[in-house]
Parts: sequence; structure tokens; C-alpha cells
Amino acid sequence: MEEKDKENNGSSGGTTRRQFLGQVGLAGAGLQLAPLLAKATGILPDNEALPIEPITVNIMINGSQKTLTIDTRVTLLDALREKLMMTGTKKGCDHGQCGACTVLVDGRRINSCLHLAAMCEGSEVTTIEGLAKGDDLHPMQAAFLKHDGFQCGYCTPGQICSAVGLVKEGRAKTDAEIRELMSGNICRCGAYQNILAAIKEVQNA
Ligand code: FES
Ligand code: FES
Repeated sequence: MEEKDKENNGSSGGTTRRQFLGQVGLAGAGLQLAPLLAKATGILPDNEALPIEPITVNIMINGSQKTLTIDTRVTLLDALREKLMMTGTKKGCDHGQCGACTVLVDGRRINSCLHLAAMCEGSEVTTIEGLAKGDDLHPMQAAFLKHDGFQCGYCTPGQICSAVGLVKEGRAKTDAEIRELMSGNICRCGAYQNILAAIKEVQNA
């Protein structure tokens, strides 16, 4: 009878089943927190990588819904280029300094090398590949062609996306303002005068 009572109570060596399960749960949580605590206390070196669970992100890219399973640390730029093989968006500095990676997120121009793909859940992203409508170039693409707004072309996808965003913002009224608000997009070939002409043509159309 005493044995039966012990079993019903789930008691084992002075510990009830509930206490035991509680201890197991705490141990499990401890295992999850251990690496974080170890890093915070300096026991685990900073360069020791923590395990990161991949996440699923849904993004509308150039009008097409994409579902990506990615590491939370992946930038939008790398997601576009490495996961979706959309290499129109260029990687220049990868540090937010050159603008080669500019895309539009919900109509706003951003440096995709500084933007985590995980932050784009539910957003609409437009890249250089999404500006033309079939064989019809976007007016900004056509204007860059007409005014020779490029030489090597490496900065051009970023310049065009940025210029589309700039015109939509409606803030730049003068040549100086266009130059200033496009100053985050570097052109190593120095095609600035022609880029300015292209933007002005679209802006004044
Ligand atoms: S690659 Fe993003 S700003 Fe240079
Ligand atoms: S066209 Fe070569 S960097 Fe701009």
C-alpha cells in the first residue's frame, strides 16, 4: 500500500514527479541559455558561434511572392544574390558606403547590404530586374541609356533604383539638390553629369 501511494505521488527518492519534471524543464532551459550566459560572462570566446535557427520570411519581390528559409543574419542583398540568384543588384562595399546595392523596399530606397532580409517580412521589394515591363524599359532606364549615364555599369542598377526613389520622394528641385540626394550612390567612372541629365529628364517629364 505504501509502495502504491509512492507511485501515485510520483515520488522517487524524496522527489515528486512534478518536482522532477520541473527540474528537467529548468535543465533544458539552462542548456539553451548556457551559451548566452557563457558569452556574457566571458567564459565562451566571442568568436565562438552560437547556433542560429533558420527562419522563414515571405517577401513580395518584383511582384512575385517569395518564401525564403534563411539565417536571421542574412542581408537582403545576399538573399537576393545568393538565394534567389538575382544578381542585378550589385555588391560594392558591403558596408553602406557606395549605394551599388540600392533597391526599393515599399517604395523607399535603401542600401540592401545594411538591411536584414528578416526585416522584410510582408514587404514589397523592387530591384533593377523589376523596373521594366516586359520589353518596355522604365523611363529612368531609358533616360540613362539616352544620356549615357554609365560607363562600366557596375553602379548603374543602384543609381537607377535610387533615382526612381528620388523622383518619387519629390524633394529634389535643383541640380544641387539632386546631386546631394544622390550622393550616397558612388560612380567610380564619374558619370555624374550624365546621371544628373537622365534624372532631370524623368523628373521634368
Ligand atoms: S554594397 Fe551596399 S552600400 Fe556598398
Ligand atoms: S558606371 Fe562605372 S562605376 Fe558608375
